[in-house]
Amino acid sequence: MSETDAVSRGESAVSRGESAVSRGESAVLPGEVGVLGGGRMGAGIAHAFLLAGSRVSVVERDAEQCEGARERVESAIHASIERATTQEEFGALADRFTVTTSDEAFETAALVIEAVPEVHDLKVSSLRRIEAHVDRECVIASNTSSISIDDLAGSLETPERFVGMHFFNPVPASSLIEVVVGARSDPAVVSKVQGWARTLGKTPVTVSDAPGFASSRLGVIVGLEAIRMLEEGVASAEDIDAAMVLGYRYPVGPLRLADIVGLDVRLGIAEYLYEQLGERFAPPQLLRDKVAAGELGRKTGRGFFEWSGGQA
Ligand SMILES: NC(=O)c1ccc[n+]([C@@H]2O[C@H](COP(=O)([O-])OP(=O)(O)OC[C@H]3O[C@@H](n4cnc5c(N)ncnc54)[C@H](O)[C@@H]3O)[C@@H](O)[C@H]2O)c1
Repeated sequence: MSETDAVSRGESAVSRGESAVSRGESAVLPGEVGVLGGGRMGAGIAHAFLLAGSRVSVVERDAEQCEGARERVESAIHASIERATTQEEFGALADRFTVTTSDEAFETAALVIEAVPEVHDLKVSSLRRIEAHVDRECVIASNTSSISIDDLAGSLETPERFVGMHFFNPVPASSLIEVVVGARSDPAVVSKVQGWARTLGKTPVTVSDAPGFASSRLGVIVGLEAIRMLEEGVASAEDIDAAMVLGYRYPVGPLRLADIVGLDVRLGIAEYLYEQLGERFAPPQLLRDKVAAGELGRKTGRGFFEWSGGQA
């Protein structure tokens, strides 16, 4: 069952929960979900849960960022209505959605997902903030792309209810959620999260905690090698990408993908994996130079490609 199938029938996954659980595949989604950080990923995650029937509160750092988060989620809702991937009216979806700077929004949530930038200390302080406000039964998840779940769990008083829930970008178009299991994650929590992923119409892939998990470790190393090849003048960005798209049937080339992800996000992940896994993840100078110059990819209009209206 895809998200599209579910929502196009106008059903809420929350109300569909009973039959989903009886198939042993999905799980009733939490009535209330909290998301800390309403950037590209946080907004996408909020949109996915809203479409599936949950109420969602996004917590941002200040009023300006709240406005940005609101715009991202509302424009994703409009896009879903235009594509008929939901039968709900804008007002009904927007009524289930709140953006605030107050952590009190997490108090009634059954799941809170942290989606702040990929900076270790910020993740630690953010997870502690979440833990201080949620109910004892609430599941806490991180959308980290690379940071060890056991490392982050070490900062929590209740690590057993903590897992990685790694959504992919863009959330509506990606059918994967990597569920990252820490040494102290409770198996019952893991199975609940796997069920929620299926109810969202995604496929959960379960990985034991290791830096970069499965997806980022493989995806980032291909991307870094493509940047090194560009640096060495092996081929143009277009040709490097075409080689992988046409030769290996990649849906999108590694350089274009890096632009879509954001070169700053990529650099952050590469630096962490370099520290954890060694030389093969050393960020190429060209990547550092692009980030220093503010050429962050699609979001700034220029990265390895020129972007206009979201297209390279
Ligand atoms: N961009 C991707 O392709 C991608 C894919 C998968 C996972 N991720 C991971 O998702 C996470 C978020 O990435 P993103 O691309 O959405 O980043 P982003 O920069 O677009 O969004 C981060 C948001 O967090 C907010 N924020 C920062 N500090 C905060 C605080 N103290 N309290 C509340 N909000 C705060 C920012 O205002 C911003 O809106 C990272 O861990 C990243 O590695 C990113």
